[in-house]
Amino acid sequence: MRRWQNSGAAWDRWADSMADPAARLNQPLLAALDLAPHHILLDLASGAGEPALTAAQGMGSTGRVLASDLVPAMLAGARRRGGGIDALSFIAADMTALPLAPASVDRISCRFGLMFVPDAAAAAREAYRVLRPGGIAALLCWGPQADNTLFRLLDTVLGGVPDLAVLFRFAQTGSLSGLLRDAGFGTVTESSLRQSALAEGAKPFWRPTLDMAFAPALAGLSREERALLEHRITAAVAAETGMDGRVPVHLHARLVVARKD
Ligand SMILES: C[S@@+](CC[C@H](N)C(=O)[O-])C[C@H]1O[C@@H](n2cnc3c(N)ncnc32)[C@H](O)[C@@H]1O
Repeated sequence: MRRWQNSGAAWDRWADSMADPAARLNQPLLAALDLAPHHILLDLASGAGEPALTAAQGMGSTGRVLASDLVPAMLAGARRRGGGIDALSFIAADMTALPLAPASVDRISCRFGLMFVPDAAAAAREAYRVLRPGGIAALLCWGPQADNTLFRLLDTVLGGVPDLAVLFRFAQTGSLSGLLRDAGFGTVTESSLRQSALAEGAKPFWRPTLDMAFAPALAGLSREERALLEHRITAAVAAETGMDGRVPVHLHARLVVARKD
């Protein structure tokens, strides 16, 4: 919980400039949900707002998106950006104990959230409880660290951040699917999402990830220590930068889609 209480401002600060990469991750997640304008979608661990904000923009007058998160400070950014969207509501709630009736939502989304919940099996059972029969849950988690350039590079420069391991808790194929099957979901499919981009090596394209994912590790650094760290990151990026001044940045996530029979 403390990890997120101190991260809300950084996530809010970067959310707008991260909108493009966020959209590329939202697209397959939202497509898997097969959302209709009248649906009630519960988004778990919404943080600064995605995919709840994007989904809410496509809702009709009877549809609703419930953006939820354990930490009210994380939802502050979602409230700021989504305040004018009629179909959007906010709930501060632990996903292992949702204040919702059984079978009360049509769809559930969760982007990079379940891995942070110590009792993830309880969260999966709770998702199953509140989803209506025939409903769909779609979740995104990270694939292996080695396949995710930014995490790999920054973790190496920082000398190995123990806190980071939790991000890759469901990196192994089948681990998140198994959890959902155990919770009762009948049909569960899993696929790899891979994206690659070329970043300008001279630009600090890595700074949003550093600020957001590594916030707890950076919290105690002085201004000088932070400057030294950024200098070392720049050197590490330069070592991976091609003759054209660009550096390949790869991303590997897993999309798990589960249906309640
Ligand atoms: C990596 S952020 C993901 C935010 C957003 N979905 C996104 O993709 O940008 C993880 C979020 O999980 C939330 N979280 C952690 N434990 C939780 C729990 N037990 N119940 C609900 N949310 C939780 C954190 O507060 C944080 O906002």
